[in-house]
Amino acid sequence: MESAIDTHLRCPRTLSRRVSDDYLPAYPRFVARGDEALQQVVMGYFGVQYAEEGKRPWALAALRHIVGSFSLADGPVRHDLTHHVDDQDHHNLMVVAYWADPAAYCRWLRSEEVRGWWESEERLTEGLGYFREIVAPRVEQFETLYAFTEDFPGIGGVMGECSGEIEEHGYWGSMRDRIPLSQTDRLEPFGVLKIASGDPAAGGRVIVRGHDNIALIRSGQDWKAAGEDERALYFDEFLPTLETGMVFLQESGRKVGCYSNRFVHSIDIDGNELDESYNIGHWQSLDLLERWAESHPAHLQLFVMFVRVVATLENLRFYQEVSVSDGKDQMYEYINCHPRTGMMRDAVIPAGGEDRLRQ
Ligand code: HEM
Repeated sequence: MESAIDTHLRCPRTLSRRVSDDYLPAYPRFVARGDEALQQVVMGYFGVQYAEEGKRPWALAALRHIVGSFSLADGPVRHDLTHHVDDQDHHNLMVVAYWADPAAYCRWLRSEEVRGWWESEERLTEGLGYFREIVAPRVEQFETLYAFTEDFPGIGGVMGECSGEIEEHGYWGSMRDRIPLSQTDRLEPFGVLKIASGDPAAGGRVIVRGHDNIALIRSGQDWKAAGEDERALYFDEFLPTLETGMVFLQESGRKVGCYSNRFVHSIDIDGNELDESYNIGHWQSLDLLERWAESHPAHLQLFVMFVRVVATLENLRFYQEVSVSDGKDQMYEYINCHPRTGMMRDAVIPAGGEDRLRQ
């Protein structure tokens, strides 16, 4: 048994863990380990939004263009693709990309091809919406948790290595205890989510300014290798409850501190659905995410169902990664997306700023 926090990221605690030193979890879990040279990563969510089904071929072509740009110099280490329908019945194709080096990401972003495509006037007139939601947490600002030890999805795939069985899981508060910075920092939010330019109601280009310690969760389900029994377990028992939780966060997330919640289905480059899905949630704070997880009936039920069957699970895979990041390491940009998209919904328009923002 080892700590979820890698040796080189451990430091004398000024804040204690939620459990005593002799706590032993009831089932095994693992975390991704990165090289000591890994300092900061970039998690980029690139979206294409369309209202009518008829636009799908164009949206897929745009998604392919974005994926194609990943082959340019300094492109991401890995990426995966998803589709979801949001609460305005708009379709969203999204590619999630991970970089192991923020400097490489910056060079990629500023390259003529990437910058030129995003800034082109054509993006405003082709009848599609676009978004880029980027966070760049340092290694001490994120955690992972897996029931398995290889083929890690998401950021785990960038880190490459796997821990042995870890101590900090199976209790409320363990997610926080796995984040290295929580040894000395309460990870409290600071600042306000604001519209920095543009007007969501008017469409066009909008930039949202984040704030310190926005929490981002990717919580995944993978039934690719699951047999008949595990598929039945997932579709008949887990999924309906998971959907209840997701509908709650989509409809009432604002009240509990969830800025944006997407329940996305993995797809291939032609838009065909794969046997994987995940939740992507941006939260005002880690604290509010914790509160939802440990108190909402749907998640409590998922937790109980999971603990009941954990010993029998073989190929039905659940995982999560959670990060917090500094406001300066976040970027949220939208082009012609509906005003409830992503971080626009809850972003405050600075007082007296409406006229100025429209300019
Ligand atoms: C099938 C779906 C899900 C199942 C079976 C499930 C089950 C679990 C389990 C068993 C844990 C404890 C893990 C451990 O420490 O060993 C957990 C933690 C957690 N889950 Fe879920 N969950 C699911 C989906 C989600 C979703 C969609 C969210 C999105 C908000 C979420 C948020 C969390 C959070 C934040 C924690 C950490 C709580 C803490 O450590 O304080 N879960 N979940």
